[in-house]
Amino acid sequence: SIKATAKLTAIASMLVSSFSAFAEPVEIKFSHVVAENTPKGQMALKFKELVEQRLPGEYTVSVFPSSQLFGDNNELAALLLNDVQIVAPSLSKFERYTKKLQVFDLPFLFEDMAAVDRFQQSEEGQKLLNSMNRKGIVGLGYLHNGMKQFSAHAPLSTPGDASGKKFRIMASDVIAAQFDAVKAIPVKKPFSEVFTLLQTRAIDGQENTWSNIYSMKFYEVQSHITESNHGVLDYMLVTSNTFWKSLPKDKREIIKKSLDEAVVLGNEIAAAKEGEDRQAILDSKRSELVSLTAVQRQQWVDAMKPVWTKFEAQIGKDVIDAAQAANK
Ligand code: LMR
Repeated sequence: SIKATAKLTAIASMLVSSFSAFAEPVEIKFSHVVAENTPKGQMALKFKELVEQRLPGEYTVSVFPSSQLFGDNNELAALLLNDVQIVAPSLSKFERYTKKLQVFDLPFLFEDMAAVDRFQQSEEGQKLLNSMNRKGIVGLGYLHNGMKQFSAHAPLSTPGDASGKKFRIMASDVIAAQFDAVKAIPVKKPFSEVFTLLQTRAIDGQENTWSNIYSMKFYEVQSHITESNHGVLDYMLVTSNTFWKSLPKDKREIIKKSLDEAVVLGNEIAAAKEGEDRQAILDSKRSELVSLTAVQRQQWVDAMKPVWTKFEAQIGKDVIDAAQAANK
């Protein structure tokens, strides 16, 4: 009868709505290697807050800091397997997927973070977000950390001071060449191992931002930090093509907008930390600051800049020129 059909329809629609009400939210895993009190750590937490506020019950974001879930050696492979949905490796860690991002590792290329930002936002910089699409990796945006400094168990004032010393580096051939250029010994190691390598003196030194030197306590196991500002350490937020395409368009837009807003906060924190974390390290008196004279700095530039021509063909001269043009 009509009445019975109506009743069945009502029951069916009740079941459907109660099913969706109790459906599990989609979990977005965001894994990274740094501490929570860093630009990337704070950006990830802000992203979680915004997504869960805007898509309640539909999406949750689980943030895994400090290489807890995946580290440098496996986070991009895990992304491609959809075991994690968002990672933000430093721009130095993509060379297996594209050579173009190596432009960011060229020593003494960018004068300051404003220049880095101008390049990233330029047409050429935005194109690099798509440079790994064929490998299944989608670039969602850049995130700042800051300029790199050298640290060691001894003061490094001239390139000769680095000669023969072992430096931990990120997995980048450009950074390896940068240390080769001053006759140092570069050793590629994941971020999670750096503190112990320095503490046990298996490695003499490393290069990193004030934020990473502070949050990972490298300054407690390095006697000197040279304020060299010789290169940039920034990130690309990436997802997999598989995950990104699986999202309904309207949800994808909300998630992307949340990410962009979280990046704005992350960048503000990065800018603040370049001064704050530097000062906290100086105040601790655990590590001594080495300031370079103009002449000394020029010696580092002269020693390291030949690296540019070595990588020009694989990066692309057009990309290097565009990056240089951002210095104004
Ligand atoms: C490093 O390995 O030194 C950095 O890339 C870590 C990070 O993510 O900031």
